[in-house]
Amino acid sequence: MNPREIIDGIQWMGAVDWHRRLFDALIPLPDGTSYNAYLVRGARKTVLLDTVDPAMGDVLMRQLEPVQNLDYVVSHHTEQDHSGMLPAVLDKYPGATLLCTSKAKPMLIEHLGVDAERIRTMADGEELDLGGRTLRFVSTPWVHWPETMVTYLPEDRILFSCDFFGSHLATSALFAGEDPYVLEAAKRYYAEIMMPFRRIITNNMQKLRDLDIDYIAPSHGPVFDQPRTILAAYEDWVSPRVANQVVLPYISMHGSTQMMVDHLVAALVDRGVGVRPFELSTTDIGMLAMALVDAATLVIGTPTVHVGPHPSVVSATHLANALRPKLRYAAVIGSYGWGTKAVEHISGLIPQLKVELLGTVVCKGMPREEAFAALDTLADTIRDKHAGLNDAG
Ligand code: FEO
Repeated sequence: MNPREIIDGIQWMGAVDWHRRLFDALIPLPDGTSYNAYLVRGARKTVLLDTVDPAMGDVLMRQLEPVQNLDYVVSHHTEQDHSGMLPAVLDKYPGATLLCTSKAKPMLIEHLGVDAERIRTMADGEELDLGGRTLRFVSTPWVHWPETMVTYLPEDRILFSCDFFGSHLATSALFAGEDPYVLEAAKRYYAEIMMPFRRIITNNMQKLRDLDIDYIAPSHGPVFDQPRTILAAYEDWVSPRVANQVVLPYISMHGSTQMMVDHLVAALVDRGVGVRPFELSTTDIGMLAMALVDAATLVIGTPTVHVGPHPSVVSATHLANALRPKLRYAAVIGSYGWGTKAVEHISGLIPQLKVELLGTVVCKGMPREEAFAALDTLADTIRDKHAGLNDAG
């Protein structure tokens, strides 16, 4: 794709990766992604903000061919999908200075071998005059590594946010407009990338609250030309508020756990509790992560394999623990053939979830009346706990 103008003197550059289906060899990308860089021209200075993933580096280098001079290159974030082409860009423009946070400097040297002499660190709130345009650097740690920052351009009211507010979405649209699918992709991105740092992001949001913003230009996905929508969504996602929802990841090997899940789902629905079951042998873990953004309760369903939980359940539980969603409650249900320590194993896998355990329902073989009654009691407990969610929030 060729460079595209956001406003006069500010261009989107970068690459749309239509066919990438996995990030970090872990995260599903059902809609591909993009690696956005931006070229900002002032009356006296020209700046490139971020680069692209080296896998598509040729696209950026081709876009830069007509650009005679760069005075600065800004690195908001050291992860290689944005920084990977910095060495090539700095080679092409030997007079350019690389701008980053003080935390990023050693990381750029360690990860990319950038010459320390080429780097100038920018303090939180420090400004750079380009001639008629000003870049103000705002430290925003943990979006998504500890060294990250964003750049605000006050004259044009543009926030260049890198991973912050991004979405893994390959699209020909430069702007998000009011497309609800962009917001869904942004929520998926938040769930997979940002959610573990929710409390720090709350502080970062506070720093942005007083800025007058017309555009948010992230480094993945389209540019938000109606930024209030994504800002309001983030305010909601990072808030302590939780929804009257149960997320229920599970596996069933011979049908017993499936019967328990089906019974519990029906019992929760009868009691006015929303529920999202995820059968883990087929589910997209991104969808599971998205469901965890708002839910109040996690119920894990597992059969027993060699005394412990099913490996797919272990993996999903580990993911939930790592993402640190704002869950309040948890429970475990499942079955076994001759003996089990599955509940003990699962309980040990969620030290980072600050949840109240509402109980366990585990049965030997096929569930019968007693197990179904215990599931009804669990559903009663969840309903009662959820009744006070707004008060507690
Ligand atoms: Fe898009 Fe954390 O890199």
